[in-house]
Amino acid sequence: MKTYKIDERSRKYRFGAPIETESLVINSMQKMTDNTLKYFKLNRKKNQLQFIYKMSKSDIVLGLGENQRGMNKRGGLYESFCSDDPVHTPDKKSLYGAHNFFILDGAEKFGIFVDYPSKVIFDIGFSQADELNITIEDENLDLYIIEGEGPKEIVEAFLVLLGDSYVPPKWAFGYQQSRWSYPDSKEIERIADSFLQNKIPCDAIYLDIDYMEAYKDFTIDEKRFPEFKEFVEKIKNKGFRLIPIIDAGVKIEDDYIIYEEGKKNDFFCVDEDDTPFVAAVWPGKVHFPDFLNPEARRWFGLKYKLLIDNGIEGFWNDMNEPAIFYTEDSLKKAISMAKDSEDKNLDINSYFNLKDQFSNLINNVEDYKRFYHKIDGKKISHYDVHNLYGHNMTRSAAEGFKEIDPNKRFLLFSRASYIGMGRYGGIWTGDNHSWWQHILLNIKMMPALNMCGFLYIGADTGGFSGDANSQLLIRWSQFSIFTPLFRNHSALGTRSQEPYAFDDESTNIMKKVIELRYSLIPYIYSEYMKAAIKKILYFMPLSFEYKDEMSKRVEDQLLVGDSLMITPIYEENAIGRYVWLPEDMLLCKIKSHQDTRCHVYKKGHAYIDVELEETPMFIRKDKMMILGKPAQNVEKINLDELKIIAFIEDGGSYTYFDDDGSTHSYKDGNYSEILIEIKKKAEEYIVDVENKGNYMVKKIHFEIIDIEGNVIEKTVNLTK
Ligand code: GLC
Repeated sequence: MKTYKIDERSRKYRFGAPIETESLVINSMQKMTDNTLKYFKLNRKKNQLQFIYKMSKSDIVLGLGENQRGMNKRGGLYESFCSDDPVHTPDKKSLYGAHNFFILDGAEKFGIFVDYPSKVIFDIGFSQADELNITIEDENLDLYIIEGEGPKEIVEAFLVLLGDSYVPPKWAFGYQQSRWSYPDSKEIERIADSFLQNKIPCDAIYLDIDYMEAYKDFTIDEKRFPEFKEFVEKIKNKGFRLIPIIDAGVKIEDDYIIYEEGKKNDFFCVDEDDTPFVAAVWPGKVHFPDFLNPEARRWFGLKYKLLIDNGIEGFWNDMNEPAIFYTEDSLKKAISMAKDSEDKNLDINSYFNLKDQFSNLINNVEDYKRFYHKIDGKKISHYDVHNLYGHNMTRSAAEGFKEIDPNKRFLLFSRASYIGMGRYGGIWTGDNHSWWQHILLNIKMMPALNMCGFLYIGADTGGFSGDANSQLLIRWSQFSIFTPLFRNHSALGTRSQEPYAFDDESTNIMKKVIELRYSLIPYIYSEYMKAAIKKILYFMPLSFEYKDEMSKRVEDQLLVGDSLMITPIYEENAIGRYVWLPEDMLLCKIKSHQDTRCHVYKKGHAYIDVELEETPMFIRKDKMMILGKPAQNVEKINLDELKIIAFIEDGGSYTYFDDDGSTHSYKDGNYSEILIEIKKKAEEYIVDVENKGNYMVKKIHFEIIDIEGNVIEKTVNLTK
């Protein structure tokens, strides 16, 4: 594998004696003292550090991963503290992930990573328009400053420090169907059959918490899922993988093996008195495995084998901020207050006080100060390492898989995360709503997550809470076909939102949109794998490639991989939208893989018409998009013949990547690359295709569109 040179301008500043987060794999950069701190003014307050930067008018701030507000984070106040908050309104300061990396692109250009596992506050021009202020309630932390030519180079330098990205199996790039819940095997089978009857492609169906016996991790409710192993196989024979959820809390119940083993071996987080800490989540009272203790982490990770032995090949880790519904003490206090209030005349203050006692039970930050981890024999308050919890749960699973089946790629993603978790799994963006605003939020978050080292990412398409209508699902899916994780998931009690859950016309449109995803898999997979191997981005803001002022300000268009700019529709009833074209591009509006219309658009502002059944995408100048034919699932896609739509003025090249899709052997160079080159000579286009490796494509059909919109067709037969 390639070795990466660390930019000598990347610097590490150590303050005090921080807890090792192990978020970076490379620490060998220059270590600096704080009196050489560049860009920032350091302000030491009592037990607190503050880094202050004066922003110029033109500065934009990109990054911070899973967060609210714009792609440009300027104007906002953000608190990095993994939070189980299911209502993602713009006023929220924290979501599930803690992603303390951003870049400043303006008069000066640099990236900064605050490696500190508890609360960090980023005030990016919120309190004072021109001041960027980072506050940490501690004096022990590592700070990294990363420099480079421009924003893209800075991020790429950071990705090198993060190490090799998680890569899922290829089938995980197929469409995935989820709901809380498909509660029993009958319902799962009904869902699988509905996809087959409607001929809608799908690769995975999810098992939410009801598959377990009383919400106990690594158990199966045998009444709902009799003969689970045979059932997993039956569904796999129909072409679908089943993906169970794993929650962080372990139910307290005598004779439940996970509980008994965890207790016996001191693998649970403890309270002040060294007894396992009790909190309540789905099963009622639980203990939290101490994922920061390597032995406990290994113990829990190997438990995934119980499900893997039943044929399971993928998991989603949840409630790992960790979410706490209540603790015994706080609940007792609230109940006693309610009892005391029983016969009283509650006025405005006493009524709201009582109400708050109950509403503050859930995910109360004070509870995080009441339990402890054991790190290297030392007892450490959970609060001080809070943001590492979900990260280490996912690490536990990934390390477990490595022992259980070393060369197999498993699907794995998590809700809570910290920078560095992108090596172990992906993330989904948690409990969004069936709101149009959340399509836009989803669009803005994707490049920010990539910048923080998360490649396998996606949101609950169609929205988790609230009721979706068919139009919302269609428009959202037209965006999600570009996200590596494309999963439709919805909450208990909401309207069904499977692609066929609405009227026939919508079913037909959804079928074509999902088929388009499968046609795009050669491109999406190729771009994902190149991003993972070369440590580059999959989603980028326009400003990473185009240096004009407008491209810095565009928040609702993204670059996807090497060739595409996407301009999703995210407004209800819209039949088109405004776009910014930083150069001449080719707009392809795709109704189905047989019905694609492409037009050349000139650099500048434009309004494009986009009917509900059309997915718009722009091919950048001198770039090409590679397409296959859809199939019922990823393994059935026939890659013998591919199609390339190229928008060529002078000439362009593309590298198409493929591998076995199921093992880690791509890391040993076991993959194939097809190098495609189109050159303009006089008035002719010369196509050159070089096939390297084993995964052979037999034929490529070219549709080359020139700057005037003329179409030249060619077919190239490939031999090895
Ligand atoms: C959490 C998850 C959600 C899941 C639910 C039940 O809210 O974020 O995806 O469906 O728990 O397990």
